[in-house]
Parts: sequence; structure tokens; C-alpha cells
Amino acid sequence: MCYGIPESKTSSQTIVKRLPVFRSSSFRIIALFAGCFLVSGLLVTGLSGYRGQKILSQQIRQAVANERDEAFSEAHGRDVSHLYPVIKELVQNEPGFYYLLQDDQEHSIISNMLHLRPIAGWRWLAWTHRTSPSDRHPVIGYGTVLYDGGYFFVGIDSTALQSLHHDLWLTLSWSSIVFLLIGLGGGIILSRLILGKIETISLTAREIMHGDITRRITLSATGDEFDHLADSLNAMLDRNEALIASVRQVSDDIAHDMRRPLARLGQYLDEAMGASVIDIRNGALLRAKAGLRDALEIFSSLLRLAQIESRDRVPDSQVCSVQRLLEKIESFYKSVAEDYGHTLIIITPESDLMIDGNRVLLVQMLSNLIENAINHSPAGARIVLSAELQNAEIMFVVTDTGPGIPPAERERVFEKMVRLDSSRTIPGNGLGLSMVRAIVCLHRGIIRLQDNKPGLRCEITLPVFSVSEK
Ligand SMILES: Nc1ncnc2c1ncn2[C@@H]1O[C@H](COP(=O)(O)OP(=O)(O)OP(=O)(O)O)[C@@H](O)[C@H]1O
Ligand SMILES: [Mg+2]
Repeated sequence: MCYGIPESKTSSQTIVKRLPVFRSSSFRIIALFAGCFLVSGLLVTGLSGYRGQKILSQQIRQAVANERDEAFSEAHGRDVSHLYPVIKELVQNEPGFYYLLQDDQEHSIISNMLHLRPIAGWRWLAWTHRTSPSDRHPVIGYGTVLYDGGYFFVGIDSTALQSLHHDLWLTLSWSSIVFLLIGLGGGIILSRLILGKIETISLTAREIMHGDITRRITLSATGDEFDHLADSLNAMLDRNEALIASVRQVSDDIAHDMRRPLARLGQYLDEAMGASVIDIRNGALLRAKAGLRDALEIFSSLLRLAQIESRDRVPDSQVCSVQRLLEKIESFYKSVAEDYGHTLIIITPESDLMIDGNRVLLVQMLSNLIENAINHSPAGARIVLSAELQNAEIMFVVTDTGPGIPPAERERVFEKMVRLDSSRTIPGNGLGLSMVRAIVCLHRGIIRLQDNKPGLRCEITLPVFSVSEK
């Protein structure tokens, strides 16, 4: 029989559809990284340029304001007649500044600028307002309407501001190219790093799909999110491998353990077919029916055992009262034990102990032990089931005064279908203790078989959930 994982059509004939470039992950990562880098770079450059421009603009305005205040203070009056000599002097001796003094009729009195409408406040004027422009730089200045209706404007060449503005645009243009190139480079490296790790995972997945179920994803040892992902996937693969192994094991067990009862069944059917006497045939058919029932019982026990062994967590776990468990066992087996001529004594703990587990499985665990004590002990045995708190653990103890199990056999009896020679005449399949150990292991407990002098003493310790006073 082949247990390999069946190859799906898509795995063996994987059709790799080519995505449009702009929909591929690498393109998106590169575009996103480059975009973010470009935007943040331009934002930083733009903001610092804007700030520089603002400071320079403030300095220029300050220089204009100083020049205007100086003119007013030297003139000792804010009218055309007082300002005239001062402005005349300034026009001749203060290069770089632009002045205009007009009377209330808007006639130019003295200036190195052309006529202006008398508007008060800060003004940006085109280069054409200058009388002898040598360049095309605009003028930034401040206009004041005088007491006598005249108008005084003082301004300055905005060359520095213009060139800063120009430099800023130049810097922005070049830096956008540089930022874009760095962003693209960074994006390519980033996408290779991320997609490389994803590729490692998908490569391993493909190898596993092709049958090598022992393959695992190699961790990069950086402990990043991909390592966490790889770790989880490896744990999942370990679990799957264990499940596949357990399925194989159960198939092997069923194939092996069912052989004998099925052969016996065949033998009874042969006997029935060969019998000419009706009573002999009926007797063989009855034995065949009983054999079929035994075979089905073994089959379902093996499956149930495999189910328990394949789990790594208790199914439908709940908080169970130890007292209730013991009461249930007492109600099930008290009269059965008496029928066999035994005495069943149940000793409940002083405080009600709570354990976290599956109630059905825990009852099954205790039932199997009590059934063993009842079945494998000669009549008149004293069977005791007790539970007590020991070092923060609950200890169930089942003792009987029967023949016990020799020390050399105490490990072997947990194996499937193992029965001692002394029990050959007693009905059973040799699966009860295997089931008990599987349930104990599932509940993270420990089981021990000891000599009860005379008889068998079975100890099971399970983690306790809580203790409540009676
Ligand atoms: N209390 C006991 N006293 C003596 N021998 C025991 C006791 N419990 C178990 N054994 C021995 O261990 C063997 C395995 O026990 P186990 O419960 O697995 O199978 P079983 O009782 O024979 O069959 P079943 O599958 O019905 O439980 C028994 O056949 C018996 O020989
Ligand atoms: Mg048994």
C-alpha cells in the first residue's frame, strides 16, 4: 500500500500565470518604497527651502522697513517737503534701493522709479517700474501715503529672493531624480529580501508536495516575522508528519491485529458451510457472529485509540469534579464487582478537587482500570479506587488483591493487544491499558504500575485545576 501524498493536478502541472508587471508584488514593493522615499525627500527639501525663503523674505522686508524709518527720522516730518532733501540724497548715495516721492497730484518729485498709484503697504512691483533696469528682477517695497497727500515708496531689488527661489526649484528637480533612484534601489533590495524569503517558503512547500514530507523551512536566525512564520509552518509540518505517521501506524495495527479475529471468523464460516447437521451449523454460525462482534470491537477500539493518540490537546476540555467522577464509577461498577464476588471501595478526597480534562475520557480511564481489577482478579478480591491531592497534583490509585502483573511485564502490558498468558481464558482484547496510557498522556499525566502485595497497584497523577473545601 502506498501512503504517499497524492499529487494534485495543479501541483504536478503547475500553471504559472504571468501577472502584469504592475500587479506583481515586487513591482508594488519597489513602487511603494520609491514613492515613499521620493515624497518624504521632496517634503524635507521643499519645507527647508520654503523656510529659507521665508527667512530671507523677512530679512528683505526688515531692510526696507529700516530704510523707510531712517528716511522718516532724518526728514523730521512725514510730508513731501521734509522728505525731498533726504530722498534726493538717498537716490544718489544708496544703490540697491529704489525710491519714489510723489506729491498729492501724483507728480514724481524725486525717484529712480516710474510713477505709481499711491497704494499703502507692501508691494511687489515688476522690473518695468524701475527707471533704468539692468535686469528683470522685480522690486519688493513698502508704500506710505504722506500727511500732505503725497506718496513715498521705498523698495529693494528682490534678486536674492529670486535666485533662492530658482535654486530651490533646481534643488527640488535634481533631488527628485536622486531620491527616485535611491528609492528604486532601496525598493529593489527590499523586494529581493522579502520575496527571497517567501520564495524559500514556497520552494520548501513544493518539495513537500513532491513527497519529501521531512523537508522543513530553513530559518534565517534573524528572528524576524518571517522566522516566526517559518517556525509556525515547521511546527505545523511536524504535526502533519506525526499525523501521517499515526495514520500509517493505525493502518498497520488494524491490518495486523484484525488478521487473527478475521481468520477465526472465516474458520467458523467454513465450519458452518461444511456442516450437514443443522445444530452443528447453527453452533458455528453463532461462533462466527460472536467472532464478528469481537472483530468490530477491536476495530472500533483501535480507531478510538488512534484518535486519542493523534491529538496533542484534550478535546472538549472542561473543569471536572473528581468527586463526581468517582461517584459515577461507583454507580457503574459497585453492583458489577459484587456480581463477581469482589468488594469495591471508593475513597473520595477530603476537598473536592477539580481537574481540567475530558470527562468522558477520564471516566473511560478509570473504568478500564476497575474492569481490569474485576476481570483479572479471582472472586473475593478487594478493589479500592481513591483520589487524593499530592504535591499540587491529583493522584488516582486503583488497587486490587488479584494476581498482579510481574515487574518484567509492567511496561509491555501497555502495548496494543498484549495480554498475559494468565489472562488467556478471560475475555478481552489487550487494548484497555493502551487506552488508559493514551488518555493519561493526553492529560499530561503519569501512570505507574506497582506491586500491591498482593495484587496490582496502579497510580495515575494528573495536574490539578483547583481545590474547593467540602
Ligand atoms: N488488575 C490486573 N491484574 C492482573 N493482570 C492485569 C490487570 N490489569 C491488566 N492485567 C494484565 O494486563 C493485560 C493487558 O490489560 P488490558 O486492559 O490492556 O487488556 P485486557 O484487559 O486483557 O483486554 P481489554 O482490551 O478488554 O481491556 C491483561 O490481559 C492482563 O493480563
Ligand atoms: Mg482491560
